[in-house]
Amino acid sequence: MSDRFLLVLDEGTTSTRAMLFDAHGKPHGSAHQALTQHYPQPGHVEHDATEIWHRTLACAREMVGEAGGADRIAAIGITNQRETVVAWCKQTGEPLARALVWQDRRTADHCLTLREAGHEERVQHNTGLLLDPYFSGTKMRWLVENEPAVAAAAQAGTLALGTIESWLVWKLTGGAHLSDASNASRTLLLPLAGAQFDPALCDLFGVPTAALGEVVDTHGNFGSTLPELFGAPIPICGLVGDQQSATIGQGCLSPGETKATYGTGAFILANHGEALPRSAHRLLGTVLMQDRGKRTYALEGSVFVAGSLVQWLRDSLGLLGTAAETETLARSIPDSGGVVIVPGLSGLGAPHWLPEARGVIAGLSFSTGRAEIARAALEAMAHQTYDLAAAFAADGAEWTSLRIDGGMSANDWMAQDIADLLDIPVERPNFVETTALGAAKLAAVGCGTYPDLATASAAMRGGLGHFTPMMDGATRQRRLANWERALAAV
Ligand code: G3P
Repeated sequence: MSDRFLLVLDEGTTSTRAMLFDAHGKPHGSAHQALTQHYPQPGHVEHDATEIWHRTLACAREMVGEAGGADRIAAIGITNQRETVVAWCKQTGEPLARALVWQDRRTADHCLTLREAGHEERVQHNTGLLLDPYFSGTKMRWLVENEPAVAAAAQAGTLALGTIESWLVWKLTGGAHLSDASNASRTLLLPLAGAQFDPALCDLFGVPTAALGEVVDTHGNFGSTLPELFGAPIPICGLVGDQQSATIGQGCLSPGETKATYGTGAFILANHGEALPRSAHRLLGTVLMQDRGKRTYALEGSVFVAGSLVQWLRDSLGLLGTAAETETLARSIPDSGGVVIVPGLSGLGAPHWLPEARGVIAGLSFSTGRAEIARAALEAMAHQTYDLAAAFAADGAEWTSLRIDGGMSANDWMAQDIADLLDIPVERPNFVETTALGAAKLAAVGCGTYPDLATASAAMRGGLGHFTPMMDGATRQRRLANWERALAAV
């Protein structure tokens, strides 16, 4: 087995991180930098792709230094915020506009027009996705229609469009234009059963096919970094959307195994094996991974606001000093005093799909204080998860337990509340950076350290913590009734 490291570049929505792992999945170092969030107007969320690149490079260089040089690194794995779209020039390799972030709602009207024209059923059948501004397709069209530099590049045939892994691979390799199947499956342009982006879907969404990269596996050898970046080339051997990566990091490799990641948003994915995922309850079908063209799929419920709610309470309202304080505040009171938060701050995702919905804080009284608001914010995570559990069950994919991870899952009170409200055991790995771990596993297989993912997963697995449900039925029913009432007010 290789004694060299795996370098993971984990491109989240709010920060970029580089992590070093050994072949046993043990972390050996981490560097991270926050990303600037641009909110030019309500519903618009943008990133600067150059900033993403520079911060990625800085974090990666720090880790290469810590590893003892590029030749101490067996492979790079990239995992990233999905759906976010970058438009760049194939000649200069420079961005042509701000990147439109997955949370951006500016294409809600366009989605509505497509829905009213009767396209949703065909799109859902083909791609597993729904007509919501969350996905990349309508964002790509918006850029082509509204950004003069993007339009001019499209005309000149020099436009490149891609999700974040695509952008980083271009910059790292000096011009390879690829998108892995798990990220490509979030664009509305890749059929679940099709190997490449589909010209008919590109046509429907107004995206120039020539601007898109080649769809590739999630693990393999995708080329090497330019020698001047790290002193010597490093092969890129894993590419995967962050939620699929966390599913792999959690070891959900068999059909039915389910994980929930509580990061900026909350994303729940159940392994669906090789069968095409079909939802009748507004869940998504998506590519979990692809190995030599063979796909494994997942059923997904995407909730747009999770940790970002706590961040908002801390940074915009100043109600909290730190995110961790929510745990102490939640424990300081017996219940939320009837306060319920519906976190529709950027619309509601699965299973409601209401892009125009906005957040609600219900049940306020003069006795409401910081503690009640903080507790209601944490309770909202269990409420949203409960709605998804019901949708998965209705689709025939009932959960018997749930593996949680993500920054917010470090909150023991929240983890217990999820077990309590859903009435199922919840497991949490001791090492919660499962998103990075998933990409490390894929890179380890891609560079040949392990022959397959099952072997990599067994070798790189860590310990687990357990939360057992303890809530009585009457409390659960009361909580759910309050949640339903608040939801109806959205
Ligand atoms: O689909 C959006 C998702 O990939 C964002 O992930 O980790 O930034 O919340 P995260």
